Amino acid sequence: MSCFAVEGGRPLVGELTVQGAKNSVLPILAASVMSGGVCRIRGCPRLSDVDTTTEILRHLGCETRWEGEDLLVDATCVTGCQIPEHLMRRMRSSVIFLGAVLSRCGRAEISYPGGCELGPRPIDLHLSALRTLGAAVCERCGVLRCAGKLRGAEIVLSLPSVGATENAMLAACGAEGTTMICNAAREPEICDLQAFLRSCGASVHGAGSSTIVVEGGKPLHGCDHGLIGDRIVASTYLASAAGAGGDICLRGIDCRHLSTVTTALMQSGCEIRCEEDCVRLRSTGKLRAIAPVRTCPYPGFPTDAQAVLMAALLRAEGTTMFVENMFDSRYRHVAELRRMGADIRTEGRVALVSGVQELHGAQVCATDLRGGAALIAAGLQARGITRVGKTAHIRRGYADIVGDLRRLGAEVREEP
Ligand code: EPZ
Repeated sequence: MSCFAVEGGRPLVGELTVQGAKNSVLPILAASVMSGGVCRIRGCPRLSDVDTTTEILRHLGCETRWEGEDLLVDATCVTGCQIPEHLMRRMRSSVIFLGAVLSRCGRAEISYPGGCELGPRPIDLHLSALRTLGAAVCERCGVLRCAGKLRGAEIVLSLPSVGATENAMLAACGAEGTTMICNAAREPEICDLQAFLRSCGASVHGAGSSTIVVEGGKPLHGCDHGLIGDRIVASTYLASAAGAGGDICLRGIDCRHLSTVTTALMQSGCEIRCEEDCVRLRSTGKLRAIAPVRTCPYPGFPTDAQAVLMAALLRAEGTTMFVENMFDSRYRHVAELRRMGADIRTEGRVALVSGVQELHGAQVCATDLRGGAALIAAGLQARGITRVGKTAHIRRGYADIVGDLRRLGAEVREEP
């Protein structure tokens, strides 16, 4: 089993450009099915989840090809509306194809999606939104069949689900009339999806607020779209430099998209400067505990940055309380961090992280995408070498975490 070997004790120094946002490109690639033309996605990160998505696109009859950093999707011919289980189960975001294929073909057939094991990940809000638009949804033996002529309606989400908001946006583009999505998610990736849809000729407004309005039934076409930077990857590298010490500058990222993370890092004693499209962090590596960190929907503290911030604070002076409100099982990285000498107590949604004098290298395993990144962040500040196994989890969201960290001066390598 290949692993990432991390040699701790070195500060991170340097600068790099952050990859395109995973949680933007996945719904955007699903939406490209609706364009009926050729879409160029600029700065597309090379992730295993992107590979899975292009496999789904090709299965549906689209053509995909890379041109340097750009991924091109030709959705002129969509010949199918069914996505096989082995593709659906590889990641959560495959569920977004439901709205896209329904919008394009008038019917869709998928199985339940897979993805990181973070606890139950129902899709009831997705299905309820599609039913509100007039789709007949039949669930039998793990297979979802949706069909129907969609008509605009008012969709009220009981919670601001990112995926359900995205599915509703895509299905609404294929629904005759006006759709209003209330209590919509406000993440920057939703704004990026809106920008993509408008480049394809759709009429979508309000992304970034709790109410999104779609005038459906517009003819769509191909487009050329540049992705926003990945705020969680940026948060990962900032947290890594915070814990290990150093002076880094990340380009290609909008500071406003990670303001709750930079605020927490400043509270811990880091010096942070935000400029036009870059963020700079300086840290001595000697941090202090911060006020309780409660994860919640954007613009609150992102659940995806919980694990990496926890890693940054493992040697901080004092105790920091984390409250994970978004998922039921998002502390699976804690047991692995304890193997490195971390002092973390968990009780349900609460984790208490008490700083220790020293962390030591260990053999650990990634439990999920962001938990795996946290193990690397912890390894950068540990004495000795940490070997992180099950790297497939990490490759789902980080195009080149080893190369990126080496560019920042870290001693990290891949071992077979
Ligand atoms: C997206 O997942 C992200 N994934 C996740 O990032 C992120 O953690 C999450 O949003 C929250 O910000 C992608 O964008 C591909 P949700 P999603 O629907 O859409 C409950 C990463 O590390 N819920 O906003 O699945 C759900 O159980 C990944 O990059 C329902 O109850 O998240 C959860 O408790 C991990 N019913 C909460 O809502 C539904 O129908 C938020 O989920 C849908 C969701």
